[in-house]
Amino acid sequence: MKTAIITGASSGIGEAFLRELVGDQRYEQIWIIARRADKLNALSEELGKERVIPVVLDLTDSKGLDILSSKLEQEKPQVELLINCAGMGKRGTVNDISLSDLENTVNLNCNCLTKTTKICLPYMTGHGRSFKDGPRILNIASSAAFLPQPGFSVYAASKAYVTSFSRALQFELKKFNIGVTTVCPGPVKTEFLKKATDNKAGEFTGIRALCAADPVKLARSSLKACRKGRGLYVYKVSQKALHVASKIVPTSWILWIEKVTMKQF
Ligand SMILES: NC(=O)c1ccc[n+]([C@@H]2O[C@H](COP(=O)([O-])OP(=O)(O)OC[C@H]3O[C@@H](n4cnc5c(N)ncnc54)[C@H](OP(=O)(O)O)[C@@H]3O)[C@@H](O)[C@H]2O)c1
Repeated sequence: MKTAIITGASSGIGEAFLRELVGDQRYEQIWIIARRADKLNALSEELGKERVIPVVLDLTDSKGLDILSSKLEQEKPQVELLINCAGMGKRGTVNDISLSDLENTVNLNCNCLTKTTKICLPYMTGHGRSFKDGPRILNIASSAAFLPQPGFSVYAASKAYVTSFSRALQFELKKFNIGVTTVCPGPVKTEFLKKATDNKAGEFTGIRALCAADPVKLARSSLKACRKGRGLYVYKVSQKALHVASKIVPTSWILWIEKVTMKQF
């Protein structure tokens, strides 16, 4: 079966991807991965139980990826699209954030994304097809990847990993007609901030509020960029400007600007 797999599909950007993909008849099945069974089951019920298949697992748990591996082995789907969207971050200094939160951030954002990709790759076949029509991997990084971010340092570093890994993978897989797109959004209006601040902040403020993106629009245009075979997709002009600045302005200057302008969430 031609299948799309989305990690982190129970809310936010992952859910927005799911809602976009439901209208795309190219995918006979859409596997949706996350921990919250109630959310995944409700989405499957709403969007079509035959086609939208909940795969309830914790990616950071050693058994989680085994569940995915076994399901792939049993069903042998033709994976046409893998969206690695599950991710987390905790705001605060390294001194203040708990060791388990630091560990989980690196594990989920880097380790699990890498392993999920490796596990799914044998089921992605670009052989005998053109690159234009080949399978796709879409990895959600962040504009946080562009620069070190004091107060969000582990998250930003983890997203730098996602970007570096995905961009290299793009070159490794192109000869097999498999496309890899790295998406770098700035702030997006989802549950992410609430979780990152342990419910202390629900909405972005200040400069971040001005750039905050709608997850539905982000998902729609990311899928278009992915279909076109784009390697890096930086979403919104504000983040493109930050990307260019990160290449030409000395990092120490940008860190100073961050310190002065971005005290709020
Ligand atoms: N929102 C932003 O401002 C922003 C900006 C740039 C990039 N991003 C990135 O976008 C991606 C999606 O975030 P979002 O904004 O949509 O936030 P979100 O609503 O919190 O979504 C996170 C998703 O990851 C899943 N997840 C978390 N831990 C998991 C685990 N251990 N195993 C399996 N699934 C897990 C969550 O589901 P369960 O809790 O049900 O497991 C949820 O579906 C993340 O990679 C994030 O870093 C977000």
